[in-house]
Amino acid sequence: MNAKWMIGTALTASLATLVLPVQAVESKLDAKTIEIVKRDFQDKGIAKADRVNQDALQALCSKYGNKPPLELKHKIEKQQQAAIKWPADDKYMGDWKAGEKLAQSGRGMTWSDKAEDPAGGNCYNCHQLSAKEIAYGTIGPSLLHFGVKQGNDLDSQRYVYGRLYNAKADNACNNMPRFGHMKILTEAQIKDLVALLLDPESPVNK
Ligand code: HEC
Repeated sequence: MNAKWMIGTALTASLATLVLPVQAVESKLDAKTIEIVKRDFQDKGIAKADRVNQDALQALCSKYGNKPPLELKHKIEKQQQAAIKWPADDKYMGDWKAGEKLAQSGRGMTWSDKAEDPAGGNCYNCHQLSAKEIAYGTIGPSLLHFGVKQGNDLDSQRYVYGRLYNAKADNACNNMPRFGHMKILTEAQIKDLVALLLDPESPVNK
């Protein structure tokens, strides 16, 4: 038994005793957090408490701190891509004016909304989109001049439609809402938003 090997073994053993309790504490904390969230969120109107339950993908992202191993990440993205429901008419661009209203609107999905009330996209909450709007969030990248940079051929239209339908199909654990997948926005609404981003006449591209 040489000295290096002995030091290595001793280090591994002491690391293992350090790591195990940390994991145990983390899983206890996770369980406690879920318990508190479930206690504090109650069904009210259309806002049901089951929203706090993670689906399989969200649970995986949590498990890996949003950084799953590359192979798993690609597998998830492939599965999510395959589940995108594309428009039957193969048309992706709606009305950018309606899209701008949707991007501005944070309505929908709260207990005081009715199930039949259309939701908004809340895009400005996370993105800059038009130079005219000075109030915007920065959780997502600026989309100002997005269409100018991206172009608006069919591939770009499909890319944006897919990204809005299910952002996790492009980047498994990113935190943009899955507007189509989670039935927040309809097909027609998503098309209006594609137009907002890609139409040369839209304020995004001025
Ligand atoms: C909760 C915050 C959030 C909201 C709300 C949100 N996004 Fe995003 N969005 C992000 C983040 C974060 C990214 C970057 C994700 C990544 O790195 O993959 C992103 C990326 C994008 C991209 C890809 C940009 C590129 O360079 O390819 C587009 C397009 C986009 N968002 C459009 C929208 C539109 C349109 C809306 C409204 C319907 C919206 N987003 C709402 C957070 C958000």
